[in-house]
Amino acid sequence: MEDDDSFKTCPQHTISRLKGNMTMYKYLGFWNIKSLHEGTILARKSFKAKPSDVLISSCPKTDTTWLKTLAFAIVTRDKFDGSTTQLLTTLPHECIPLLEHDLEKVEDNHNNAGLFPLVATHLPYTSLPESLVASDCKIVYIYRDVKDVIVSHYCFLHEVVKLFVDDVPFEYWDHIWGYWKASQERLGRILFLKYEDMKEDPTNDVKRLAEFIGYLFSIEEEKAGVVENIIKLCSFENMSNLEVNKSGTHRPEEDVSIENRLYFKKAKDGDWENYFTDEKLSGTGLVL
Ligand code: A3P
Repeated sequence: MEDDDSFKTCPQHTISRLKGNMTMYKYLGFWNIKSLHEGTILARKSFKAKPSDVLISSCPKTDTTWLKTLAFAIVTRDKFDGSTTQLLTTLPHECIPLLEHDLEKVEDNHNNAGLFPLVATHLPYTSLPESLVASDCKIVYIYRDVKDVIVSHYCFLHEVVKLFVDDVPFEYWDHIWGYWKASQERLGRILFLKYEDMKEDPTNDVKRLAEFIGYLFSIEEEKAGVVENIIKLCSFENMSNLEVNKSGTHRPEEDVSIENRLYFKKAKDGDWENYFTDEKLSGTGLVL
């Protein structure tokens, strides 16, 4: 281990959906669970990025699942359509490997003539492997209203919400800021997508995404409704109702295995209003 490596055991942050106690590790200023912490160190040591890679980056619970679904559908649209795509039978997170977890799969994709450019990560910008930064590959970064991120996280991890506000420093802003700062230096190489905007006008953002990652829709494709078909395929309604996403399990063999359905909760903007209360202020006349 290197740099400002330190660790801390979170007191009994065990959730019914997760197995065993979680140990958190702080690395280069950010916290992570053991397996991802180790995967990060491995990726930083051995990953050789290519300029043609496209990094799909995000903080957890900012709607990574939707972005991955769309990016995968865009990149593979020449080979598969809505009735043959892997997305019908595979959780989107398994379609695009996670750098800090699935390094072997990322490298396999490289070795297979590099035809599949997509690599996902939740790593903050400052923890990315040096080869990746040096490659100047493109990065797509998604972000979302912080209050909905907290609620999404809270529901996902149940009572581990404490990770956000108590035991572990609040990292969401630092995560976004790191990528934003990099975007000021790497002009035109980092695309920011905002979840709320994408929901409001998916056509616009899906076209921007396709163009940015080098898979621009042709005029013929647009006329043939390919963009709309991809949006429909990747929609929350469609994806959340697929059998694999209703009943499958993500990484079933691991300590932290997650039911696929938990990646598809409500997909509602402003859901935080149903969770954040001003109880402490009740009776004061001050309402937030
Ligand atoms: P909610 O918890 O608010 O419902 P991540 O993918 O980063 O884990 O974020 C999860 C959030 O993305 C969840 O939000 C989930 O419902 C939403 N989501 C997943 N798939 C989606 C899709 N196809 N379209 C829109 N939102 C989606």
